[in-house]
Amino acid sequence: MSTTPLPSSLRPTLPGTAYTDPATFDAECARILEANWFCAVAAVDLPKAGSFRTVTVGRESVLITRSRTGEVRAFFNVCRHRGARLCTESSGTVGRTFRCPYHAWSYDLDGKLAGAPHLPQMRDIDRTEYGLRTIAVREWLGYVWVCLADDPPSFADTVMASVASRLGDVAAVDRYDVGSLALGKRITYDVAANWKLVVENFMECYHCATIHPELTGVLPEFAKGWAAQYYVGHGAEMGASVEGFTVDGSAGLGRLPDIDDEQDRRYFAVTVAPQVFLNLVPDHVIVHRMFPLSANRTVIECDWLVHPDVVAAGTDISRSVELFDRVNRQDFDACERCQSGMGSRVYRDGGVLVPTEHHIEEFHTWVRTSLGEIVAVPEASEG
Ligand code: FES
Ligand code: FE
Repeated sequence: MSTTPLPSSLRPTLPGTAYTDPATFDAECARILEANWFCAVAAVDLPKAGSFRTVTVGRESVLITRSRTGEVRAFFNVCRHRGARLCTESSGTVGRTFRCPYHAWSYDLDGKLAGAPHLPQMRDIDRTEYGLRTIAVREWLGYVWVCLADDPPSFADTVMASVASRLGDVAAVDRYDVGSLALGKRITYDVAANWKLVVENFMECYHCATIHPELTGVLPEFAKGWAAQYYVGHGAEMGASVEGFTVDGSAGLGRLPDIDDEQDRRYFAVTVAPQVFLNLVPDHVIVHRMFPLSANRTVIECDWLVHPDVVAAGTDISRSVELFDRVNRQDFDACERCQSGMGSRVYRDGGVLVPTEHHIEEFHTWVRTSLGEIVAVPEASEG
């Protein structure tokens, strides 16, 4: 059965199966999540030597720790002896070594094999060669980014270029001095939706008038549906009577010291594919890191970063946090409603991108190109 072509101002979405098919998710793990720079943990999550966190990147568990000399290290969280998961806690601190709970091989904070009980023959082996497999690491904006690829893409040409292409200039993010900010609040959301739905939702604002009364109260232009991300360098302006980026528009925190007048009273949003959303407002920064866990489950850690003086003074930041916490819950509810429709036979051929959503098509093209010929996103069916 043929379908009437869409008018040229409307564009097709990915088919529904792209959001539900486990084989597509596996291919995305291999070709997108494990192949690109992935924002894993905040540097403040690793306050001292031996602090660690474990996170899921694609199909792998990654162990991230701080060495005795203060550098961040990342490893595949797999014992080199018989493959046991080395570290089963999501966070914590060890002394000098990670010790496998199975036969007690131990590894130092640089990943070198430190000990193997009852095996004198191990004394002369190369302890790096038989140490933990290392993963590439970068620190930027106060976060630890990892890349599981053997030959990682250029960080500047991917992550930094993505921020620059949205803000018009990477120096614009430097003025928020994100790496110097303190963690004011973290909320973790466990969302029953495919990670691409979460990305697409974050990119568009067609839904803002329907589901975000508090956000459109603070940023009235969002009620028209044109997201800040539709334009390069555009920051949505706060309403004339709004005092701050808070749940009720009341005054927020002090303006961050280095932002310029063009950035004051404006909200900038940036998506760094595949899994980071940055929100920049005059007095704080919100960083979302997504952890896609399966075709229909995504965990999102959201951090509200504020000036260190705000934390030191014990200032109440709850009205600032509540605005985007409500936005997140509204968005994730919407993503879950979409996920439950993605498997329907009537969405097998996908849906429609309206003009305010056209930039989402670039994301779809990026997904399709990334997957290449290994496993293509399922095409719309013929019948
Ligand atoms: Fe880790 Fe044996 S599997 S020590
Ligand atoms: Fe939204």
